[in-house]
Amino acid sequence: MGAAGLAAILGFLLLARDLVGDEAQEAEAVRELVVRLLGPGPAADFLVSVERALANESGLDTYSLSGGGGVPVLVRGSSGVAAAAGLHRYLRDFCGCHIAWSSSQLHLPSPLPAVPDGLTEATPNRYRYYQNVCTHSYSFVWWDWARWEQEIDWMALNGINLALAWNGQEAIWQRVYLALGLTQSEIDNYFTGPAFLAWGRMGNLHTWDGPLPRSWHLKQLYLQHRILDRMRSFGMTPVLPAFAGHVPKAITRVFPQVNVIQLGNWGHFNCSYSCSFLLAPGDPLFPLIGTLFLRELTKEFGTDHIYGADTFNEMQPPFSDPSYLAAATAAVYEAMVTVDPDAVWLLQGWLFQHQPQFWGPSQIKAVLEAVPRGRLLVLDLFAETQPVYSRTASFHGQPFIWCMLHNFGGNHGLFGALEDVNQGPQAARLFPNSTMVGTGIAPEGIGQNEVVYALMAELGWRKDPVPDLVAWVSSFASRRYGVSQPDAVAAWRLLLRSVYNCSGEACSGHNRSPLVKRPSLQMSTAVWYNRSDVFEAWRLLLRAAPNLTASPAFRYDLLDVTRQAVQELVSSCYEEARTAFLNQDLDLLLRAGGLLTYKLLPSLDELLASNSHFLLGTWLDQAREVAVSESEAQFYEQNSRYQITLWGPEGNILDYANKQLAGLVADYYQPRWCLFLGTLAHSLARGIPFQQHQFEKSVFPLEQAFINNKKRYPIQPQGDTVDLSKKIFLKFHPQPDSL
Ligand SMILES: *[C@@H]1O[C@H](CO)[C@@H](O)[C@H](O)[C@H]1NC(C)=O
Ligand SMILES: *[C@@H]1O[C@H](CO)[C@@H](O)[C@H](O)[C@H]1NC(C)=O
Ligand SMILES: *[C@@H]1O[C@H](CO)[C@@H](O)[C@H](O)[C@H]1NC(C)=O
Ligand SMILES: *[C@@H]1O[C@H](CO)[C@@H](O)[C@H](O)[C@H]1NC(C)=O
Ligand SMILES: *[C@@H]1O[C@H](CO)[C@@H](O)[C@H](O)[C@H]1NC(C)=O
Ligand SMILES: *[C@@H]1O[C@H](CO)[C@@H](O)[C@H](O)[C@H]1NC(C)=O
Repeated sequence: MGAAGLAAILGFLLLARDLVGDEAQEAEAVRELVVRLLGPGPAADFLVSVERALANESGLDTYSLSGGGGVPVLVRGSSGVAAAAGLHRYLRDFCGCHIAWSSSQLHLPSPLPAVPDGLTEATPNRYRYYQNVCTHSYSFVWWDWARWEQEIDWMALNGINLALAWNGQEAIWQRVYLALGLTQSEIDNYFTGPAFLAWGRMGNLHTWDGPLPRSWHLKQLYLQHRILDRMRSFGMTPVLPAFAGHVPKAITRVFPQVNVIQLGNWGHFNCSYSCSFLLAPGDPLFPLIGTLFLRELTKEFGTDHIYGADTFNEMQPPFSDPSYLAAATAAVYEAMVTVDPDAVWLLQGWLFQHQPQFWGPSQIKAVLEAVPRGRLLVLDLFAETQPVYSRTASFHGQPFIWCMLHNFGGNHGLFGALEDVNQGPQAARLFPNSTMVGTGIAPEGIGQNEVVYALMAELGWRKDPVPDLVAWVSSFASRRYGVSQPDAVAAWRLLLRSVYNCSGEACSGHNRSPLVKRPSLQMSTAVWYNRSDVFEAWRLLLRAAPNLTASPAFRYDLLDVTRQAVQELVSSCYEEARTAFLNQDLDLLLRAGGLLTYKLLPSLDELLASNSHFLLGTWLDQAREVAVSESEAQFYEQNSRYQITLWGPEGNILDYANKQLAGLVADYYQPRWCLFLGTLAHSLARGIPFQQHQFEKSVFPLEQAFINNKKRYPIQPQGDTVDLSKKIFLKFHPQPDSL
């Protein structure tokens, strides 16, 4: 496809929103954001206006900065989002401020610095996308409006203009299923619990840890309305869900003649919880259900014309015949355009790279060409590591968004592929006949590795990669702490070249540390970086501590780097214990095992307890807060505990969404390690072989006991991070005297 073809695609996508919307309303939304962010006093020094005419001839979002130095700073944007991104640019590059999930550093210089000669910046692409279907379960599931408001502010400041608005869809589905003649108990039996809705929505799962309480639906509808209002007020495009073809089994009771196919199982779940039913594309119920749902949804929420749906996400289609795949795809699209003639379908491209053995060139082509060109917007979801656009000729001419996935399961663990992230979007843009129309941030879970997200958000507004990542990370560290402290900067440079410079196959993004896994003798302790860099970064941060104790971001990072170092120490203790066991050295086994279980893990738990972002209590309390009764609170809490540990009733996706939280280390990981090392010692002492399957039988009840322990965990931090980190350093650092 030549330039004219791409222009046609872009033209269509631009139609999807821009000409509607109100400049004055978007400017007002940004002014309110400035007040929330800076407070009413400082906000008075900023003037905000939204002028569509600022967008360049290609219609790309643009901001323009001027003033300061004694007069108010004037922030102009072609949309509310562009103005918010311009404000962020000013705060970051002129004031040395930093905005992040864990805390923001917003000390403004006085007077506000002047913007010499003004500054105008256009984004290189139409879209900056945010979210992954899974983020709604791993991170957003228990959020209230106050937390959503903060997130939408974060999105606006980072210039995000396309995001899922996924709440409340089960309430709409419930109306549709009731209209179709399903009973309430059939519906209750179908939905998963809140913590697993992401996979219910993609057809991977049903039933598991449900049903959804009535109050859940009401609260989600309310939230969805507020979320949509706020996103739209900034000029963002919210993406609503659409029907992908999955139906509850009970459909076959109401319509005995219906043509459905049962898919295979997913994620080690048996067919009581997975193996969903997929409607055949030619069945008359397909357009009926698809249009019923979209009509009911858009009647409730309005529409911005972009809809998300995933039919074969991590699920092998029943036939590999391209004509079947094309029909299954076209049926989803047809139902969309029947209700909304302007519909554009947003598809997660994850399926193509997740099951490459199934998705050969003709299968991929069948899906991509089943929808008119320009009407399928594909997320190249894991493009920083396994891009799909480059091996599918830019998704056969469909527009795509280059996304950084980065995180799986909301795991803690320092990790990033910053060099690859930095180069990726430009390479995709320069790809021959590229149909790239945006950049995206698509983590499964948020609230970790903030540096990675800062870089990716910045790239959404850059035409070229950051020229010098070492300089960039140095300035990141200085802004984050509000002062350029040489030891802290040196620490960040070490982190950049080690944990944050993953490249190639090693970069899965999962935390595979033995610490968070069910122990066995076969665990790998390999990492992609030189561990000495983490230990040295830890030392440097501790040296910087006296100058930075007042910075919440510094305390967070000191904790996080100490946590990473302890994770490394656990790996080496495990290696020692394993070697001792294999060499039948009981003394050494007891020493290494004792250090791991009775020293390192308790120290880690104590350290984590010192910061509110690392408390199990906070995570569980959020879930309980959603409830309207004690029994609901217990139900939500159970959902929440399952997700971060066993995931399914039998440990079906065990420890996938592992976290390092105070309380979880003490009451879940620690007992498990104790049992493992105790079993090894017992087996050596008695001369009986160690049997992994026996161990797994006895450890499973311990894991379940955590889920059911009914304990309430603190929601207030305790102890001082700097003191605790230093204490751990002096006991366990490879060079304790170096401090
Ligand atoms: C790009 O598109 C042009 C015009 O359609 C075509 O001639 C050329 O072969 C394409 N290049 C590549 C690398 O696909
Ligand atoms: C609009 O901005 C983009 C990105 O900066 C640039 O590539 C393009 O040439 C600009 N178009 C016009 C007509 O100025
Ligand atoms: C699936 O597993 C659950 C336990 O996790 C069990 O109760 C149920 O009977 C199993 N269902 C099937 C169809 O095997
Ligand atoms: C990251 O690693 C690559 C080699 O894989 C190297 O070329 C590059 O300089 C490293 N970047 C940093 C910031 O250390
Ligand atoms: C790791 O870093 C340390 C300290 O800089 C150095 O002595 C060591 O050789 C490095 N190890 C490897 C495998 O590069
Ligand atoms: C740290 O702060 C002390 C005063 O509290 C000051 O003397 C020293 O220069 C600072 N060190 C650095 C490296 O900024």
